[in-house]
This record gives sequence, structure tokens and C-alpha cells, in this order.
Amino acid sequence: MEKFYITTPIYYVNDKPHIGHSYTTVLADVLARYNRLAGKDVFFLTGTDEHGQKVAQSAEKSGITPKEHCDIYAKRFKDMWDALNLKYDKFIRTTDPEHIGVVQKALQKLFDNGDIYKDNYVGWYCVPDERFWTEKDLINGKCPECERPVTKIEEENYFFRMSKYQDWLIEYIQSNPEFIQPDFRQNEVLGFLRKPLNDLCISRPKQRLSWGVELPFDTEYVTYVWVDALINYISAVGLYFDQEKFNRWWPADIHLIGKDILTTHAVYWPILLKALGIQMPRTIFAHGWWMVDERKMGKSLGNAIDPESLVKTIGEDRLRYYLIRDMVLGQDASYSLSGLVSRLNNDLSNDLGNMLARVTNMVSAYFDCKLPQPAQQLDTETLKLHQVMDKLHKEVWENVESMKLHDALEVLNSAIRAANKYIEETQPWQLAKEGDSDMLATVLFTATQLLAKVGILLFPVIPQKSQELLTALDYQGEMSLSACAKDTLVPPGANITKPPSLFPRLHLNDLRKKLGVIIKPEEQKQERFAEGLITIEQLSKVKLKVGRIISAKKAANADKLLLLEVDLGKERRNLVAGIAQWYNPDELAGKNIVVVTNLEPATIRGHKSQGMLLAADDGNSVSLLTVDKNVEPGSEVK
Ligand code: MSP
Repeated sequence: MEKFYITTPIYYVNDKPHIGHSYTTVLADVLARYNRLAGKDVFFLTGTDEHGQKVAQSAEKSGITPKEHCDIYAKRFKDMWDALNLKYDKFIRTTDPEHIGVVQKALQKLFDNGDIYKDNYVGWYCVPDERFWTEKDLINGKCPECERPVTKIEEENYFFRMSKYQDWLIEYIQSNPEFIQPDFRQNEVLGFLRKPLNDLCISRPKQRLSWGVELPFDTEYVTYVWVDALINYISAVGLYFDQEKFNRWWPADIHLIGKDILTTHAVYWPILLKALGIQMPRTIFAHGWWMVDERKMGKSLGNAIDPESLVKTIGEDRLRYYLIRDMVLGQDASYSLSGLVSRLNNDLSNDLGNMLARVTNMVSAYFDCKLPQPAQQLDTETLKLHQVMDKLHKEVWENVESMKLHDALEVLNSAIRAANKYIEETQPWQLAKEGDSDMLATVLFTATQLLAKVGILLFPVIPQKSQELLTALDYQGEMSLSACAKDTLVPPGANITKPPSLFPRLHLNDLRKKLGVIIKPEEQKQERFAEGLITIEQLSKVKLKVGRIISAKKAANADKLLLLEVDLGKERRNLVAGIAQWYNPDELAGKNIVVVTNLEPATIRGHKSQGMLLAADDGNSVSLLTVDKNVEPGSEVK
């Protein structure tokens, strides 16, 4: 069986998981599930990055040991991943003894091969980032990455000969276009590699920092967290202690990372692997960031969105769907609660949920909950829907393989829209009235097949709801991509049940209350605007006056138009109105009507119109707006 090994970054235990972390892990879960659906044997790895100075410091502040601190945070991540229904195969922690053993073996090997040497080091150290910088790197004397103050440090340390492998790496990246994805990230890395690569300082003296993996060849030192962390991808699958397992899974098919950790993954990591004589991973894929108000979501900016309360209020499937649907993989995406509500209401409540409700209601009403047998000969509308349905699984899978998950979801959503349109066009309720049971059966049967297909193909994204949908349709087949290739997924006679609403509509203000979201006044204004509301200032721009009709006549060249002369007090104006169908010119003279007087003049069918009258239209007839007392022409309407 073909294998698929996918990893997420391992998360620092100094933060509780926010939407940014959740995104990477949800994405990995969705890809893992699609690959399982495609029949592959999948290994999905995630975990926590637990060493380093920050962890030691936080633990000290809370009066607990670093390991106790890590246990608390690792559990928070695990709990969040459970709440999001993520099915990983292993959760690695860098404090796992097995992992530590592998890090030490790897370091010893590098040392024995002469790839590690000791040297005196003078540099600037950024404590929060746990990184050294040279004088040249600093920006205004501060850390170029986080802009926080740096400390000058002079000490003996161990270095890894990265520079030795620079040319090899450039050549490798150039000849393996799949290696760094998306393409523009590959160019970014090659750009970085144009400058000479410094050797990497891979040790920290214990007297300064003891919470780390001890160097096997010098017990006075621990190793740099990134060396420890990157090795998780190979220790998790058994390197140096379970060769069979390692051979089964390595090389990883995809390392999913955020764009913030591209250099460590696309430069340090391949060089470490090369020096250890280990094969390269197939692809390193860097996604963009979730932004809030155009800034990266994260702990340091205090704008992190808590996935826990979101999952509690909208359910894990909706959050999963939103994250996958609203980020174009590789680019940044902007998070907003109003964006989330409208996306989910449109795609899941209006389109998918509505379609399921329609189909199950009708099968229940017209066929006593038994899926009917379709006609032998199919009509053109049904054949058209078959065309959409037949290529659905291929299109979805192609998009998944090329990491266009938002497009995969768009393909599925447009299939649902096509099915809703099919129902509107064929009007099964009308077919039922007319007694055309053959066509009625065909429509409901076909729509059910499409829904079942969509249900399977959405399973990786909304596993729980898709199960509910498939249960309502009495789907008994396999959960696999190949099952989608069949024409009939749910056979005639299946017991269709009416499920409770799959995705009840969300209400933004309700949700805000539940989540305790406070919105800024300018946001409120923008929203009202988006909902089509106008301000009082905008309304006051429309000038309305009472006009008395002096005369009315039919327009010579247009049946629907009447030409009116109207008295507006200080002036008379000509209006062209589309009311000839509803009023006889003779009955109009003397009526006091309401006229928009500050509308730009227009020429309609060759007649000048200097304003517009107001009328009510209920779909059956049109009625002029008049005033109910006899006011003077030219009176303002406010
Ligand atoms: N511990 C390192 C990774 C070591 S991997 C060998 C680390 N951890 S982290 O917790 O700070 O972040 C991990 C990942 O979280 C990021 O690379 C990214 O994938 C994800 N995100 C954190 N904030 C994010 C957003 N605002 N948006 C999207 N993803 C982001 O770096």
C-alpha cells in the first residue's frame, strides 16, 4: 500500500493553541484524511517543542519544574486537537526519552564525522528567540526578527559546518522543484543562499541554560533547540531504534510549516539530514499566516483568537471548514467573525444543509422515506447534473494533490449549487402535483446520489457532519475515493431519514455575545453599510417633495410610459413614469404625489425627465404614493 507521511511543526509550550496553530494542524488532518480516503497508508505526526530558555523561565515563574510546565501545555494542545477531531498517529514531545536518545546519537555522528567543531564565539543573543546574531544583523541595535533588546555574549561553543553544504543545497533545490513549495518560497530560499552561509552555533553552555538535550560529547553543554526540534521528524518514525518503521515512513511526504519557519526547515534541516546521510523529505510546504486587522495573529500582539470557545459555540466542523475554505494555501488570510459567519451560512446552511433538508423532506413526503427507482431514460436536466457528478471526485482529488484545498471545497460547493438549481428547475413539488412520478423519482434519486458523493468528499473536512449526512441518506458503502466513482452510491429502497438541521444558521450578534467579542464603532458602521443600511446623513441627501399632477399623456413611442407635468410650488417639471399599464392619463390630473426632486435629469425614450415619482409595487399592480391630506404642492417630504 502506498504510504503518506505528513508532519506539522511541533509547537512551543509557551502559548496555548490559537487559530494559527490550529490551522496548521487542521490542514494536516484534512490532508491526512484525504490521503486515507485515496487508499494510502497514512502517518500523521504532530507534537510539542519543549526545551529552551523560555520554558525554563516560565516554569520558574510559576514555581514548578520545566517538565511539569511542559506536561500542562502538552495536554492543552492535545485537548484542543481532540476538540477539533484531529486524528494524528503520533504526538511527539521533545522531552520523550526516545527522542532525546536519537538527538544525542545524531549529534555524536555529526561530531565523529568532523561536522561539528568548537570555537570562541562573540555575538548578540536574543533571549526570547534563543538566537545569536552578528553585529551586522542587528537593526537599531535590536533583534532583527522580533525587535527586542539583545545581550552581548562571549563564550566557547560548538558549531555545525553548514557552510560546507551550501553549494550542495543550492544544487539540490534547483534540481528538485517539488522540494520547497509554493514556488515563490523556493526563490526566497535561493535568494537567502546567495549570501555565504554561516556555520550554525548548536550549543548553549549549561551554566546559562540547562533545560535542553545534553551534548553527548561535552556534558557542559545542551544543544540548540532547533537542532533538537527538527530531529523530531525522524525520531518519531524510529530512526536509530526501529529501522523497519523508519524505512516504512521516511522520507516524509510533506512537512507542513508556516512561512515564519521557512529558513530553519529549508536550510538547516536539509543540511543536517545530508550530513547524517539521510534522504531528503519530498516536500516542505510553507503556508501563510492568519491575520487579524492586517497583523499576524499571535500571542505577542495579543490578537490571538481562541479556538476553544469557537469550537464550543459553532462546533469543530464549521471551524475546520472555515479555516480550509478561507485560506488560499501559501497566501495570508484574514480572520474575521463576520467573514466566518457569512462563509458558513452561505456554504453550509444555505447550500449544503438546505439541499439535504429538501431531498430528505421530499423523499419522506412523496415516497414514505424509501428512495425511489429512477426512470430508465434520463432527461436533459438530469444528464446535466450527472456531468457535474461524474467528475467530482477526480476534480476534488486533483485539487487536493496540488494543495489547492480552497478550490477543492469550491468545486464541492458549486456541485451543491448545481443540485439546488436542478431542484428549482425540475420543481419536484409540481411533478408530485401533476402525478409525474417517474420524473419525481429520478430527480430525488439523482439529487441523493450527488449528496452522498459530496458527503464522502467532504468527510476529510467535516468528518462528524458528513457522517450525519451519510447516515440520513442510509449510505452503506465504503468511505473511499473509489466509492465515489460509482454511479449509484445509495440504491433504490434505501431508508432516507429527515435529520435535524445539519447547520442551523449562525447569527453574528448572537455569536459575538457568546464569545464576548466587543466590536469597535467603525467596524459597526462598516457592517451596517455592508448589510445595505444607510446613515441618516445619507438619507437626508434624498430630497422629496409633494407634486400636484397638472396633466398626463401617453408617450407616443413607448406603451409603458406616461408623460406628466407636475406642479412643485415654485416650479413645474416634466416627469416620465412607467405607469401607463396601471393608470389612465385622465384619472391622474389633480393627484398629489411624492417626487424625488434632486435626481439627475435623464432622457427616457427621447423624453426629458426631471425627477422621479414614488410608487408601491406588490408584484401584481403599481400604486402611486400620495399624501392623505390636501397639502400645498412643493411641500417637503421628510
Ligand atoms: N517550535 C517551532 C517549530 C519547530 S518545528 C521543528 C515553532 N513553534 S510555534 O509554536 O511558534 O509555531 C508553530 C507554527 O504555528 C508556525 O510555523 C505556523 O505553522 C503556526 N502559526 C503560528 N501562528 C500563526 C498564524 N498567525 N497563522 C498561521 N499559522 C501560524 O515555531
